[in-house]
Amino acid sequence: MCTLSPKSVFITGANRGLGLEFVKHFLRLANPPTHLFAACRKPDQATELTQLASENGSIRVVKMDVTQDEEIAAAVAEVGKVVGDDGLNLLLNNAGVNQQEQGIEPLTREKMNYHFDCNVTAPLLICKAFLPTLRRAADKTEFSCSRAAIINLSSTLSLINYVNKINDLRYPYNSSKCALNMVTDILAREVSPDGVLVAGIHPGWVRTDMGGPNGMIDKEESISKCMNTFAALNKDSSGLLYSYTGDIFDWNSGP
Ligand SMILES: NC(=O)c1ccc[n+]([C@@H]2O[C@H](COP(=O)([O-])OP(=O)(O)OC[C@H]3O[C@@H](n4cnc5c(N)ncnc54)[C@H](OP(=O)(O)O)[C@@H]3O)[C@@H](O)[C@H]2O)c1
Repeated sequence: MCTLSPKSVFITGANRGLGLEFVKHFLRLANPPTHLFAACRKPDQATELTQLASENGSIRVVKMDVTQDEEIAAAVAEVGKVVGDDGLNLLLNNAGVNQQEQGIEPLTREKMNYHFDCNVTAPLLICKAFLPTLRRAADKTEFSCSRAAIINLSSTLSLINYVNKINDLRYPYNSSKCALNMVTDILAREVSPDGVLVAGIHPGWVRTDMGGPNGMIDKEESISKCMNTFAALNKDSSGLLYSYTGDIFDWNSGP
């Protein structure tokens, strides 16, 4: 079994839900990251995260609204100062939104644009901004989440045949995560020659604010299995969408 041992990790939306759970699980690794950048848009309200940071010197809470270019630039500069020539090993594009009721009636341009901004444009621009430091960490002979990788949080609700099967009618969320898959695929092909691995992951239907109380699994199960999946990724993983269990999804069909 491969181990997961990135020296530096950057996680978006780390103040609650799966983002915060990722922070806790990275701390529990046998070789935890030296630098764990936990980004959130309102650090002054991120009580649990700031408490964790006060107990663990490796955590740096970074203020970053993923839709704000100047905050992305400031975060990249801060990370660059800390990691220097070692570069950043792992970027987790976790922050996301899913605020739309089912069906076309409640749909507005504003809601569509908001979902596409948070779920597609933001992760792509964050990847773009962090690529120089990810490339510094890369080693073309070692594709792994411990070396240089980007993981985008996707969903089975991005998969056309799956959404069709369960008759889910959420236009903004499903179409934005579908577009994120395309971003993952294109980016993987563009940056593979540099030694940077890019993959998507579906964390399961999880009991968080977004997943709701009826989710099939809890955060602990989701993220412990995501971490095992990350540990196993290699050169052949780039451009693929994984389930938290480690299975690979066909981009269209789903489970
Ligand atoms: N839960 C599930 O069942 C499930 C299933 C499939 C995929 N996913 C994906 O997994 C990821 C995490 O989901 P979750 O269940 O943890 O969701 P969540 O409980 O709703 O948490 C969402 C996180 O994203 C952050 N966020 C939203 N907009 C942001 C912005 N503009 N800038 C910075 N941060 C922002 C939130 O920060 P604030 O606290 O500031 O709002 C929060 O930390 C998402 O990408 C989601 O699509 C979840």
